[in-house]
Amino acid sequence: FAFTPANQAWAEAQITKYPEGRQASAIIPLLWRAQEQEGWLTRPAIEHVCDMLGLAHIRGLEVATFYFMFQLQPVGSVAHIQVCGTTSCMICGAEDLIGVCQEKIAKRAHQLSADGKFSWEEVECLGSCANAPMAQIGKDYYEDLTAARLGEIIDEMAAGRVPTPGPQNGRYASEPASGLT
Ligand code: FES
Repeated sequence: FAFTPANQAWAEAQITKYPEGRQASAIIPLLWRAQEQEGWLTRPAIEHVCDMLGLAHIRGLEVATFYFMFQLQPVGSVAHIQVCGTTSCMICGAEDLIGVCQEKIAKRAHQLSADGKFSWEEVECLGSCANAPMAQIGKDYYEDLTAARLGEIIDEMAAGRVPTPGPQNGRYASEPASGLT
C-alpha cells in the first residue's frame, strides 16, 4: 500500500498538527484517508499508517477493529449499508430493514451483492434514535425508514440515483412543529 502523492502530503501535514510525542493521535484521520482512497481498509494500509506513526501494527488493528466506521473487507461499489440494530431501532423495525438487506443484497452481513454494488451490516446505535429505525448509507443517514422505503432506496442507488437523505416519512419536510424553531 502507498498513499497517492496528494494523500501522502495530506497525511504528513496531519501528523505535524499534534504535539511532539503525540503523533499517534493522528491514527484515525490517516486510517480514514486510507479507507477513502482504497474503498476499504486493507491490512497493508493499516500497517503503512502505523509505520508512518512509529506504532506497532497491532495498535492500528486495535483501532481499526474497534470502530465500525472502518471496513476491514471490501464493500459494495455503490454503497455499504449500516443498519442500526440497537434498542430504539430494533423496536421500530430494524429486523425488517435487515430482512430487506438479506433479500436484496446478500444473506450474510459483509457479503457483497451478486453485482458487487452493495454490502450491509448491522451496527450499534448511530445516535439518531428519535428517528428510528434508521441506517447509514455511505456517509448519510436515512431515517424513519420502512422496509419498503429502504428497498426503494437500494433500487434507486442501483440505478445511479442518490435519494435525499434524512427522514423518509416527511418529518420536518415543511414547517417545523411549533416550538422547534
Ligand atoms: Fe438506532 Fe440509536 S438506537 S440510532
